[in-house]
Amino acid sequence: MSILILNIKQLLQAHESNVTILKGDEMKTLSVLEDAYVYIDHDTIIEFGKMEDYRTIEADTVIDATGKLVLPSWCDSHTHIVYAGDRTSEFVDRINGLSYTEIANKGGGILNSAKVLQNTSEDELYEQSIKRLNELIAMGTGAVEIKTGYGLTVEAELKMLRVIKRIKQESLAVIIPTLLAAHAIPEAFKTKKQNYIKYITDELIPKAVESNITHYLDVFCEEGYFDINDTETILKAGKAHNLRPKIHVNQFNILGGIALGVKYNALSVDHLEELNDDDIKALKGSETIPVALPGCSYFLGIPYTQARKIIDAGLPLAIATDYNPGSAPSGNMNFIVSSACVKLKMTPEEAINAATVNGAYAMGISNMYGSITRGKKANLLITKPMNHYSEIPYAFAHNPIEQVIINGQLL
Ligand code: NIG
Ligand code: FE
Repeated sequence: MSILILNIKQLLQAHESNVTILKGDEMKTLSVLEDAYVYIDHDTIIEFGKMEDYRTIEADTVIDATGKLVLPSWCDSHTHIVYAGDRTSEFVDRINGLSYTEIANKGGGILNSAKVLQNTSEDELYEQSIKRLNELIAMGTGAVEIKTGYGLTVEAELKMLRVIKRIKQESLAVIIPTLLAAHAIPEAFKTKKQNYIKYITDELIPKAVESNITHYLDVFCEEGYFDINDTETILKAGKAHNLRPKIHVNQFNILGGIALGVKYNALSVDHLEELNDDDIKALKGSETIPVALPGCSYFLGIPYTQARKIIDAGLPLAIATDYNPGSAPSGNMNFIVSSACVKLKMTPEEAINAATVNGAYAMGISNMYGSITRGKKANLLITKPMNHYSEIPYAFAHNPIEQVIINGQLL
């Protein structure tokens, strides 16, 4: 099955040589080929170039993209889309004045979602989750990280991992599973946090590793959840099993989680709504990418990550949805790209780079995804007619996507 797309108004993120991360000023430039074509065969990008250089290629499907843009599909490097039910009642509580933390302290929040998930069958959990994934794909996402973390018991966490595995087998999208081993402290361990940490390090992590589904480990490093010492204990246990950190840090408070993440060679440190100069210093020269989650700031009304401080320091930045029932119930990457511009003061070029190449880097897949390069996987978007890529973030909350190609297949 081969697809040829002709007369593309702007072909974005096409590179002659492979690009796997963009840092600082490099993020300011978005590669654009005007009046271009792309040819893909099976799951691979074979050729691209300007229409003036196009010589006839035979293909099974030919698409005329006159007036439209083509770009790599979005890479969403931080989601919690495997969950059961929703938290609309807490949403209303928040409108009426309670904070996220107050709701959590009353037994709501993550504990609420965990209770529902524990009582939901594996099949039902799969059905609810794949539906969310399919909605994401229709909105242009081709690669998604999915975390566990609503199990809070070995049994329920393994159930989540199996559901993620099944999604990975059934979907054309690229799925990167992460074990969010330490997301909250269950009610039964409230006064015995150290026992719960031991349960995580001695039982949950080894059993999860045995299932061979994930290579990444997440911890919610935050006041009232896991402090810096707890986080280090858990990362150390993960390291012994070759799990690489991808962690929640600096959402409400700065505990030193960024420097700790760097020390354990985290692939990414995510959230960063709070951020100081030491955090920036810690990230310099590391292989750890910061990830901003503007949907969470929007929904909870908390500060937006200071993207300018990060990028202007020469660092890379990725953006992701954080799609979850409590702090960001949306998986629309188009909205994330727009909020990155409107709220994080990123230029359209920076935002698109952050949602493609750098998003792929934050999942460890930027060798094969996130840009249009010969030999890379064919995950592409075709937009509705538009004049310029800036219209993607400009027309916020509109759907700019007309067609998606995932793994070489036109959906
Ligand atoms: O990334 N902060 C921790 N985890 C999620 C929210 C979890 C929830 O409220 O269900 C987040 O915001
Ligand atoms: Fe999250």
